[in-house]
Amino acid sequence: MVLSLQKIKIYVAVILFCYLCYFIQHFILSTGNMNCMVGERESKRAVLLKDESLEPFYRHIIDQRKIRQRKKTGDFKMEPYRDPRWRSRKPELQILLVSYINAGSTYLGNILRQNTRIFYVYHPVVVLLDYIEEYRGERMYLYKKPGGLRRKDLREHRVKNSTTESNVTMKQLSKDLINDFLDCNFTALDIASLTNLPYYHNAQTRNFSNCILDGSLVIYIKCLKLLYEACNNTDVTLVNSVQLPVKTAMSLLIQKPELKLIYLYRDPRATLWTQFNNGVYKWATLKRKAKLFCSSLLKDLMTAQNITKMFPNRFVSIKYEDLVRDTKDTFRSMYQILGLGELPKDVEDYITSGKRIVGCSDCVESDHNAWRLGMPYEGAGIIDMNCARVYKKLGYELITGQEHLRKVNQTLEFQSNFL
Ligand SMILES: *[C@@H]1O[C@H](CO)[C@@H](O)[C@H](O)[C@H]1NC(C)=O
Ligand SMILES: *[C@@H]1O[C@H](CO)[C@@H](O)[C@H](O)[C@H]1NC(C)=O
Ligand SMILES: *[C@@H]1O[C@H](CO)[C@@H](O)[C@H](O)[C@H]1NC(C)=O
Ligand SMILES: *[C@@H]1O[C@H](CO)[C@@H](O)[C@H](O)[C@H]1NC(C)=O
Ligand SMILES: *[C@@H]1O[C@H](CO)[C@@H](O)[C@H](O)[C@H]1NC(C)=O
Ligand SMILES: *[C@@H]1O[C@H](CO)[C@@H](O)[C@H](O)[C@H]1NC(C)=O
Ligand SMILES: *[C@@H]1O[C@H](CO)[C@@H](O)[C@H](O)[C@H]1NC(C)=O
Repeated sequence: MVLSLQKIKIYVAVILFCYLCYFIQHFILSTGNMNCMVGERESKRAVLLKDESLEPFYRHIIDQRKIRQRKKTGDFKMEPYRDPRWRSRKPELQILLVSYINAGSTYLGNILRQNTRIFYVYHPVVVLLDYIEEYRGERMYLYKKPGGLRRKDLREHRVKNSTTESNVTMKQLSKDLINDFLDCNFTALDIASLTNLPYYHNAQTRNFSNCILDGSLVIYIKCLKLLYEACNNTDVTLVNSVQLPVKTAMSLLIQKPELKLIYLYRDPRATLWTQFNNGVYKWATLKRKAKLFCSSLLKDLMTAQNITKMFPNRFVSIKYEDLVRDTKDTFRSMYQILGLGELPKDVEDYITSGKRIVGCSDCVESDHNAWRLGMPYEGAGIIDMNCARVYKKLGYELITGQEHLRKVNQTLEFQSNFL
């Protein structure tokens, strides 16, 4: 069939017309509000830029995409790090909590942060990884050049996304991130990490989160001192991190004499079952997932054992099952080792009240034995096959049959002195 020239002309005209309609609808009509908001933001920004007390700070912002660089930026010497408004006293005690997704770190961290001496940071590496995924490796800072991960590194990270161990660059990134949080070195952090700091309605960061509501980059310059203030009001920083290899934690321990480490683990079957229910992986990939999870767990354990020898007074290991069984006693001994003193009355009351965060994707179920009734027997078998060496070290029994799995009253734990 051959189309005449006339017909082709008509088709082209119709297609062009449709596209024009679409364009008007989509880009001109629907962005009216946006323009207005951007205008408002611009004017707020202009007001901020006129504020002379802030001048030394924004002079150094080098992200040209957001703010036009002034002619005389001077040499880029981190002047802001020396300004007294952007400084806090060094936290006397720094604590890093290392665990796994759905192994109880939200629960443990939530009780720890009830202590008003503690400045709490929740799952910073997860935030960083999500952001890096979304923005293809780009990160944005106030006082550093926007950073990028190389394409290759990013791909590597995607392939082995169960831990950040996959890549040297990611390892360094997460180490720096945690280090800066522990030191309250907020100016060194990327914007995504700062923005996510007030996650979980943290009372200490409320002033800061209210301040940055506007969302523009310049506003951070005005608000940042509120974080330093919050850090000044506490003497302990606590970073709760999943997705961090214990090896990285160990290098931080070596580097930072004021740092102590809490290592929290849970029965891998319970962890993996909860992860599955939260959509972390698909059931069909259980075998691969279990293998990956338990091999990184094993590596972590070997490193943790070395840490107990190198830093016996700066390391606490917590078995999640003990934590839920004897919550107060576990916290009392944890407080002792961490040098936090007696368990405060209000924290004790909080534990008694049995409050839990609900509706978060990384919480644990209220019945910590639920996995034994819900998980298909074959699933438990697959995990056992890949995790036996880990169980032996941590004190979890292999399952001998369907009945054994379902008999919830019969414990699957035994005493182990590995850690
Ligand atoms: C925090 O305290 C230090 C002194 O300990 C002081 O130099 C600094 O200005 C304080 N920071 C803020 C934001 O108040
Ligand atoms: C890793 O990420 C990819 C895509 O981002 C996802 O499809 C996959 O399920 C993830 N793997 C694991 C083990 O979480
Ligand atoms: C991670 O990134 C580094 C470069 O920083 C690269 O040499 C390496 O091959 C990547 N992958 C792994 C598994 O280390
Ligand atoms: C904060 O981080 C920057 C950049 O990494 C560093 O130059 C500075 O010394 C750090 N400040 C503190 C107080 O650790
Ligand atoms: C928040 O700001 C108020 C008023 O300036 C101040 O009284 C309060 O201590 C601040 N909160 C924190 C946690 O720093
Ligand atoms: C633990 O320490 C031993 C002896 O110092 C060393 O050979 C081994 O590589 C270390 N293992 C880990 C995982 O750090
Ligand atoms: C399990 O233990 C609870 C109390 O710990 C008891 O009430 C219950 O009857 C026991 N169930 C079975 C099947 O033994």
